[in-house]
Amino acid sequence: MLPNMSIHPPTQAKEPEVPAKELNTPAKEPATPANAPLDILDDGSIDMSSVLQESQVMDVLEKLDKELVGLKSVKTRIREIAALLLVDRMRHRFELTTLPPTLHMSFTGPPGTGKTTVAMRMAAILHRLGYVRRGHLVAVTRDDLVGQYIGHTAPKTKEILKRAMGGVLFIDEAYYLYRQENERDYGQEAIEILLQVMETQREDLVVILAGYKNRMDTFFSSNPGFSSRIAHHLDFPDYSLEELLAIARLMLAEQMYHFSPEALSAFEAYLTRRMQMPRFSNARSVRNAIDRARLRHANRLFDKGGKISRIDLMTIEAEDILASRIFSENLPDEEHSPEN
Ligand SMILES: Nc1ncnc2c1ncn2[C@@H]1O[C@H](COP(=O)(O)OP(=O)(O)OP(=O)(O)O)[C@@H](O)[C@H]1O
Ligand SMILES: [Mg+2]
Repeated sequence: MLPNMSIHPPTQAKEPEVPAKELNTPAKEPATPANAPLDILDDGSIDMSSVLQESQVMDVLEKLDKELVGLKSVKTRIREIAALLLVDRMRHRFELTTLPPTLHMSFTGPPGTGKTTVAMRMAAILHRLGYVRRGHLVAVTRDDLVGQYIGHTAPKTKEILKRAMGGVLFIDEAYYLYRQENERDYGQEAIEILLQVMETQREDLVVILAGYKNRMDTFFSSNPGFSSRIAHHLDFPDYSLEELLAIARLMLAEQMYHFSPEALSAFEAYLTRRMQMPRFSNARSVRNAIDRARLRHANRLFDKGGKISRIDLMTIEAEDILASRIFSENLPDEEHSPEN
């Protein structure tokens, strides 16, 4: 985990967050600093392809496309933002000055649909395009910003803002900042500080608010100050069964495993059931299910003993999936954890 990043237990009941690999990847430095002056050619133009190459933004966009399944409209919006920032830089070179665009965003959607993952990628892209200096991401929840006692909130919020400067401040389940029933709630103090910084320091800090769509809508209608400062609303829908299967294959391939054809059908049956059950968390449930399948796979080989081939070590078989409790439970039951 990045030293300046903290992920907190989700306030909502959902599958436990397994730290994702992406969270550990700091933004790599582009070959040329993102704010280096652009060359004007003899004919008075700027060569777009060299600008693209120099910022390496295409690499990041392609990687995003390849490594994240689905999310079509999210990817399109990211591409548009990248284009806007590139064109802005080129305009700047010709002294066509504009105010830096507002890039605060809201990411709404159910658990495990890629909000935190995309926020990390966004931080890297904004850095490559010279919008933020450092490109790191500080992920927080209400408890990181709001104190328990009078006088504690402002220093807490300011400390987090200081850490996030030059990067992205990601506020998960942002609606918990606002408690309608209690107008003296300290959350209000944090909100006011955030609003001010979002306005005055927007060239060096991007704030991303994340959470469930309906709660976020209510939050925005009670806090018009936030609503008017958010330039991009990105919605992360539940993944389809096909997308979840593609995500599973991608995750397995990254770890040099694969499903046998029978295991793939078993996993499809597993997901079909799991999707109907409580605390289903999209891609996170897939990741957790794969981790458990790996455990059973290892146990199976362990019990089998004898000669074990490279293929054996890579292949998840149907029985590694079918041993899940999901197949012996009849009804979705809030009391039972659907795990195992
Ligand atoms: N489209 C995708 N393709 C591949 N992997 C994905 C995709 N979306 C999410 N994942 C993986 O699923 C896991 C959960 O994703 P992430 O933490 O970004 O979800 P989230 O929307 O932030 O969830 P929550 O609302 O619970 O915080 C991560 O390991 C991530 O890498
Ligand atoms: Mg998240």
